[in-house]
Amino acid sequence: MREAVSQELEDGVLVVTVDNPPVNALGAEVRRGLVTAMERADADEAVRAVVIRGEGRTFPAGADIREFGKPPAEPWLPDVVNRIEACTKPVVAALHGTALGGGLEVALAAHWRIADRQAKVGLPEVNLGILPGAGGTQRLPRIVGAQKALDMMLSGRHVPAAEAHELGIIDRIAEGDLLEEAKMWAREIAGRPDALRPTGARTDGLTDPESWRAACAAARARLEKKSPQLFAPFRIVECVEKVIELPIDEGMAFERQAFEACMRSPQREGLIHAFFAERRARKIPEAERGTPRPLERAGVIGGGTMGSGIAVAMLKAGLPVTMVERDEEAAAAGRERVAAILARDVERRRLTPGRRDALLAAFATTTDYGALSDADLVVEAAFEEMAVKQEIFRKLDAVAKKGAILATNTSYLDINEIAAATGRPEDVIGLHFFSPAHIMKLLEIVVADATSDDAVATGLQLARRLGKVPVRAGVCDGFIGNRIYNRYVEEAFFIMEDGASPYEIDRAVRNFGYPMGPFEVADLAGLDIGWAARKRRAPTRDPRRRYVAIADKLCERGWFGQKTGRGWYRYEEGSRKGQPDPEVLEIVASERILKGVPTGAFTEEDIIRRYLAAMINEAANVVHEGIALRPSDVDVVAVHGYGFPRWRGGPMKYADMVGLENILADIEAFAEEDPVVWQPSPLLVDLVRRGGNFDSLNRD
Ligand code: CAA
Repeated sequence: MREAVSQELEDGVLVVTVDNPPVNALGAEVRRGLVTAMERADADEAVRAVVIRGEGRTFPAGADIREFGKPPAEPWLPDVVNRIEACTKPVVAALHGTALGGGLEVALAAHWRIADRQAKVGLPEVNLGILPGAGGTQRLPRIVGAQKALDMMLSGRHVPAAEAHELGIIDRIAEGDLLEEAKMWAREIAGRPDALRPTGARTDGLTDPESWRAACAAARARLEKKSPQLFAPFRIVECVEKVIELPIDEGMAFERQAFEACMRSPQREGLIHAFFAERRARKIPEAERGTPRPLERAGVIGGGTMGSGIAVAMLKAGLPVTMVERDEEAAAAGRERVAAILARDVERRRLTPGRRDALLAAFATTTDYGALSDADLVVEAAFEEMAVKQEIFRKLDAVAKKGAILATNTSYLDINEIAAATGRPEDVIGLHFFSPAHIMKLLEIVVADATSDDAVATGLQLARRLGKVPVRAGVCDGFIGNRIYNRYVEEAFFIMEDGASPYEIDRAVRNFGYPMGPFEVADLAGLDIGWAARKRRAPTRDPRRRYVAIADKLCERGWFGQKTGRGWYRYEEGSRKGQPDPEVLEIVASERILKGVPTGAFTEEDIIRRYLAAMINEAANVVHEGIALRPSDVDVVAVHGYGFPRWRGGPMKYADMVGLENILADIEAFAEEDPVVWQPSPLLVDLVRRGGNFDSLNRD
């Protein structure tokens, strides 16, 4: 059997290797193995120095997250790192891959650190709703100071080896073979009087108490502004404050308490759910069966906002792109848009002018479909109308090479009908990007009836290459995200007509944790988009279903949101911050009178309960119908495409935490008022009957 930690004595150096694939997480066995190794190092006279390293792709990338929430098994990581620091022989940590979280804490407890050039270090615990709980909050600041340590721990960012070397976190960069150099170095320092350098006793990062406290206060003020609802970041600042006040052992005791408070917080549960949900979403059965096709050249049809954003995302991922538009003027506009996005990146120093020029050189615009004949994948992002899309796919079918993936970025339309316009429906797939496509991380991979496994595998490969978060969706009106979105926006309209103002609804939704409320979002996206969709659906709308016409009244006045200076809010010239508009409230009031709906007062809780019940019920249907493979996929979509607060995990996780029986009870109560709109999802009813929850359906 493979040992989680092995030891090998080589010429006086005890090489301690952690071997716990895939990321060498510090599970109980690894922790025990590390302690055993330290005991041997102390006891065995033949050991003069120790090297700790990771087998395979990385130095330990953290504590074992799967153990969280279970009773902790001994030895605890804080004791393990203290044991390493107390070793009587010098310990060198040899870092490669990603030395993160508990992994970096192990390295910080070593007396010296060497890394290869590609290594990255970081304390990303904050992203999981916790804090570095094995001395990280106490040791890192002793090396780099309060400000730098706070920057790393509050952002969770992965710091490249070169920068970590400059900061003093890494002492040496290996030029050649990491292990050989680590062993050589360990041998060199063995027996030297200064070789035992405990980080807990270091003072190089410390400043006078006043500056230290000022750095902590500044970080706290930034958090108050940016993320006042989050729990863990504030605890991190408190821990760093202690560094200047307490010796390391007392500081670590304080850190332990703070860590445990984070572990108990529901935010930890939500954030860790989100972490595993993202990874599970990449497990797509079709992609696992299929083989990705080569991806070297891409095409984009349509140079509007979506098309140009998609082109930029692909260019940045190293794919040359040819963009096709219907005439020269539109092609030039598409080129302008792509150039403008890249120019903004240069302005903000995210891109060098040289790299921008190289990206533009890999980009071509044309009106000739023939130019797509060598593309491996084409994404159509043209006008959202079936006839337009079918015409495009007919043309594509005529020119695209055999095996090319033909993708549509449609948000709502039936991809089976689009695929039927070609003679190769097996190559047709939906790749639904979110606006702005070069920034938003979500990518819905929509699998139509005839889509081949290879096409899905290629879509997933593209997502990985673009750094997107992929989620598999089935075909329906709106797929996963927009279908659920439409339902809760509809509910927001009902709540408005029933008595809450759009501003109260937006505020409640923001206070729940969304960056924006639904009316602000509509103003940003353009009210004309929803208007067009409502008109399109009008002929097939259930005549018994309640319909709120207020948004239409705004559109009839030409109030399309930010771009026209008026929508649900009023916008001063050039301002993106809207002001409540009394005229909108008048329109709302007169519609209520016209319809004779009884109105009442809504608390924030009333608003959120109805809004979320609508979201969750529709999401349950999306899972029930197989449009989403599993509830956690819906969570990923809501978090990455629609601003659902990540620390709540997603709507399905939220429902589990509130209790499905409570959600169902709300839905049943709303159904008494409106049985057409509120039909409890069969999945929800079934889960409540069985005493189950959504999480029980989350399988890899
Ligand atoms: N514990 C348990 N499993 C982990 C893990 C961890 N810390 N980190 C990653 N994994 C698992 C993933 O779930 C995934 O499993 P499946 O293959 O079954 O889906 C597998 O390892 C590979 O992970 P990725 O797909 O994410 O691989 P990647 O190469 O894209 O990224 C990574 C690797 C950068 C290490 C990324 O996995 C990551 O960011 N992991 C989390 C790192 C982290 O947050 N560490 C801190 C942990 S908390 C801590 O350490 C607390 C403390 O102070 C005591």
